[in-house]
Amino acid sequence: MSSTFATDVAKGLSEEKKTLSSKYFYDKIGDELFIKIMHSNEYYLTNSELDIFKNQSQGLIEGFSLKNGDTDLIELGAGDGSKTTHLLKEMLNQNIDFTYAPIDISEHAVNSLVASLKTNLPTLKLRPRIGDYFNILEEENTNNPKNRIILFLGSNLGNLNNNQASQFLTKLSSRMQTGDKLLLGLDIKKLPSIILAAYNDKGGHTRDFNLNLLTRINNELGANFNLNNFIHAPYYDPILGRSVSSLVSTKEQVVFIKELNQEFTFRAWEAIQTEISQKYDLHSLNEIIKGTGLVFKRVFYDQNKLFMDVLIEKES
Ligand code: AVJ
Repeated sequence: MSSTFATDVAKGLSEEKKTLSSKYFYDKIGDELFIKIMHSNEYYLTNSELDIFKNQSQGLIEGFSLKNGDTDLIELGAGDGSKTTHLLKEMLNQNIDFTYAPIDISEHAVNSLVASLKTNLPTLKLRPRIGDYFNILEEENTNNPKNRIILFLGSNLGNLNNNQASQFLTKLSSRMQTGDKLLLGLDIKKLPSIILAAYNDKGGHTRDFNLNLLTRINNELGANFNLNNFIHAPYYDPILGRSVSSLVSTKEQVVFIKELNQEFTFRAWEAIQTEISQKYDLHSLNEIIKGTGLVFKRVFYDQNKLFMDVLIEKES
């Protein structure tokens, strides 16, 4: 068995309740489909957070309460930086002495972001990093700027359940120093039909995004998934406050994965869970950050109150 992808697929499809990890959505086709999702009418998350950055960058900077001296602005999973650019512009306008350190696991994402920032904001000081958040934060720690601001936007935290999110934030907190801040972009609990529509767009991009996981397993692990025998079936659970995406087998079938030299049997209407997208409110956020060493400072909402960016501080 070669890759962690192969190992993870084998493990996920052998469980009593089959799963595939959402982290494998993002190959080249997956990246393109995610852009289409972000541009769909139903997927309100990206535009809502963009609204906060467009209209409240000044407030965000006030919230950072920067001390005199240099500032590191570190972004975890920077992507194309379209939201952050508004903040960067405002910080440059205010003559704040800072370095922007976008971190992403995707070399492609970091390189194209750096290229576009060099053209659009030529005076910006950049320290791009490619790799795992935690390893890099550990190294960034030795840097010791006067102010450290970490951005983790897009409700990316939502792919973790609340226990995992607490653990993630505890780990993050252990890499932070007193006064360091974290700006966390989180999708808010709301009318279930609005949330469900965001994960079931009429254009079918979210469906394709989920089915692409099977295509990836076919291409990279030599499997014979027939995409016509699976449907995309997302639902919103208002009790747990999360959207769950799944692929459901429309009939009894056997799939062979060459790379694993293993057959997987699907019963009729058996599901593979592919993703959770957790939604939050200030109450649930407080439960999650309790005991992590991080404390709530301030919240910023978009004009329609669909999304929030929460400013959190490392306590003393
Ligand atoms: C990038 C994890 C925030 O869960 O809303 C979009 C990914 N999945 N449509 C989300 C996603 C289906 C997205 N995050």
